[in-house]
Amino acid sequence: MRDILPPESGRWRRFTDVFADVVERAGYGQIVTPLLEDLGVFTRIGDATDVVTKEMYDFVDKGERHIALRPEMTASVCRAFAEHRPTVPWKVFYSGSNFRYEKPQRGRYRQFDQVGIEVLGADDAFLDVEVIALASEFYRRLGLRQVTLVVNSLGEPDDRARYVEALRAYFTAAGDRLSEASRATLERNPLRVLDSKRERDQELIAAAPQIGDFHSPEAAAHFVAVLDGLRTLDIEFTVEPKLVRGLDYYRRTIFEFQGGTLDSAQNALGGGGRYDGLVEALGGPATPGIGFALGVDRTLLACDDEGVFAAEPVELDAFVVDVTGGLQAVALTAELRAAGLAVDRGYDNRSMKAQMKLANRSGARFAVIIGDDELAAGTVVVKPMRGDGEQLAVPRSEISTHLAAHPDQN
Ligand code: HAM
Repeated sequence: MRDILPPESGRWRRFTDVFADVVERAGYGQIVTPLLEDLGVFTRIGDATDVVTKEMYDFVDKGERHIALRPEMTASVCRAFAEHRPTVPWKVFYSGSNFRYEKPQRGRYRQFDQVGIEVLGADDAFLDVEVIALASEFYRRLGLRQVTLVVNSLGEPDDRARYVEALRAYFTAAGDRLSEASRATLERNPLRVLDSKRERDQELIAAAPQIGDFHSPEAAAHFVAVLDGLRTLDIEFTVEPKLVRGLDYYRRTIFEFQGGTLDSAQNALGGGGRYDGLVEALGGPATPGIGFALGVDRTLLACDDEGVFAAEPVELDAFVVDVTGGLQAVALTAELRAAGLAVDRGYDNRSMKAQMKLANRSGARFAVIIGDDELAAGTVVVKPMRGDGEQLAVPRSEISTHLAAHPDQN
């Protein structure tokens, strides 16, 4: 877990603002759910996922309730849907922190932020296209160029179940040609063996059964429609039959966005898919659902690598330097801020030299200086801090109009 300090924290806020702008224009409204939920909400993500079995921050509270810090937000959104029964299609977006007890490394933290969207109550393959297109549009707005989209379909639950059994049989028959770690994964979840990055497993994985051979006609048609929609929007993608994603609730369409500049262990900038049975599992009516979540940390690392969407400190218009005791600065900063200018000031009645140093460091366009002579004359001195403009005395009563009229240095 980390602290996010300024100016990086300002970049985080702009990130969320840009995301909200992209999705609100497409009809999504913000949802805010609790950081904590009943443990049962998250066990529905699937008891064969590390997220649930190994990485959850769960505990018993003072009221003897077994609760957990959310490891992701899709389950919470489905719980909220089951509870409030809004009209469908229900289109929501979110941003906030999640918690997973993972091994921390670059781009992988125990508290991390996501932004994301979910749509409940529509089955349309072209909704899948909209959801994917909104993530693409967001990356475009950030300025990211090296993001690739991989897609796959896990089929209907029956298709998926038959595929899982075929994989189980195939990898079991391979015996100890499969790495020991993957044999343990096989016991819990054969699909996840396909995720193994171990050298020894690669040949077996390459020759493993493919999900496409198990698609029902309905699932196949849905997937074809999704790909047609993506082509219509000129969104580039690669079909990756081995893509399975880390959470168990997925059915049919799944997708991931990968950053071109990050290591393969954390190059997933975001991902999502359909999870048509999740609302039902949480006590709601049978409701189709689809969405994605994008990791804020990783996406910003990708921005750093590509030199886009940089942190920008707020530009100050003026820095007030008062060497008459401080009361003039109280009035001047308040007046200039009320006029809409960005203004900071020195404190503790420090010397002119010390305050000018602060003014310099603040990056403000102008220092607005008031000493005993200016106080007596009813003026202030305006000193441009960049470039070589002359400093000049301005009547005290005209200072805000003067600064507003001089957006540059002079
Ligand atoms: P996820 O793939 O587990 O999916 O997480 C989505 C993104 O969150 C990842 O691609 C990654 O960028 C970021 N992320 C995950 N774990 C960490 C971590 N420990 N540190 C930093 N970033 C991390 C979900 O969470 C699903 N709820 C997505 C979804 C929404 N599916 C349907 N709707």
